[in-house]
Amino acid sequence: MRIFSGIQPTGAKHLGNYAGGFRQYVESQERGDAFFCVVDLHSITVDYDPAGLRERTLSLAAMLFAAGLDPERSTVFVQSHVPAHAEAAWLLSAVTSYGQLGRMTQFKDKAAQRDFVPAGLFTYPLLMAGDILLYRTDAVPIGDDQRQHLELARDVAARFNARFGELFRVPEGIYPAVGARLMDLQEPTRKMSTTGGTPQGTVLLLDPPETIRRKIRSAVTDSGSEIRRGADKAGIANLIDIMSVATGEAPEWIERRYDGGGYGRFKRDVAEAVIALLEPFQAQYAEFRSDPGELQRLLAVGGEKARTASAPTRARMYELMGFVAPIGALKEPSKRNVQSIRNC
Ligand code: TYM
Repeated sequence: MRIFSGIQPTGAKHLGNYAGGFRQYVESQERGDAFFCVVDLHSITVDYDPAGLRERTLSLAAMLFAAGLDPERSTVFVQSHVPAHAEAAWLLSAVTSYGQLGRMTQFKDKAAQRDFVPAGLFTYPLLMAGDILLYRTDAVPIGDDQRQHLELARDVAARFNARFGELFRVPEGIYPAVGARLMDLQEPTRKMSTTGGTPQGTVLLLDPPETIRRKIRSAVTDSGSEIRRGADKAGIANLIDIMSVATGEAPEWIERRYDGGGYGRFKRDVAEAVIALLEPFQAQYAEFRSDPGELQRLLAVGGEKARTASAPTRARMYELMGFVAPIGALKEPSKRNVQSIRNC
């Protein structure tokens, strides 16, 4: 089975990214031939600082390895190291409608927040579709907020196959049973996010223990005192999900274990569970960061593997769409072609 997922080097990474992203990547690398991509080309679709992009890209790559991605088993690479991604996005624009892109809720939300709306924000889902389809991916581990983008990638794959000939697999999303959408601790009706959430309500993967304790202690809860999910219990339900993500324990068991226990003790235990989850991750991260040469070497190996793996699909896309192959790509050059190469 071919697995692909991507994560942006934008903003600090948080517990939501761990729940819908990192955690699932590590689990899914056991299940097949897995590709994980730091999608740096995606990160220029919002206002960004070029000087910081390199640093954030390397930091995110270190996090992927620190979370447990094994470079022997998985291909971990940087999107801009594989030019086929940008090419695929352009080619797929032929089978994607303006209306479809305009219906993307992430585009509508992000566009509404700014005066200057970069064109890349609009075409972003095409780049994501290209990422996935280039590897003839079967399964995409993601959080719930990427569902609509994945649906678009599936539509685009089907439309390309129908219009130009069978090439792409139509990928399935893998969503975690618990934690597919962790919410902001201060405003539990909004998803946890460094761009759309509150700083106090977002637990960062590199937060020190005291900060984690403070953020979870001040999490918004409702006026009752029961530890259970249900109507008007968005804050406590989110903390139950976080506890489940941190410990692996099912939410029903957590409810039972804390029955009658009160919010104070529960919040304290959630904070300690998150700290215990993140401590080894943070230690591993520091190690990967201390050796930038080794990190870049691992990414170079991943980039090479990704270029090789995506090359046949890229070539076939051009071929099926009717482009003339460049001379170097001809399997058996004719005498005439050989002559013209010599004359160059
Ligand atoms: P990104 O970088 O925003 O997020 C990376 C992963 O984290 C998940 N996630 C969450 N999961 C649970 N709760 C949350 N609050 C939360 N916030 C984020 C995301 O669902 C994602 O799985 N467009 C993608 C990156 C991308 C991609 C791809 C993903 C580009 N190409 C190809 C899969 C396949 C994005 O911006 O994710």
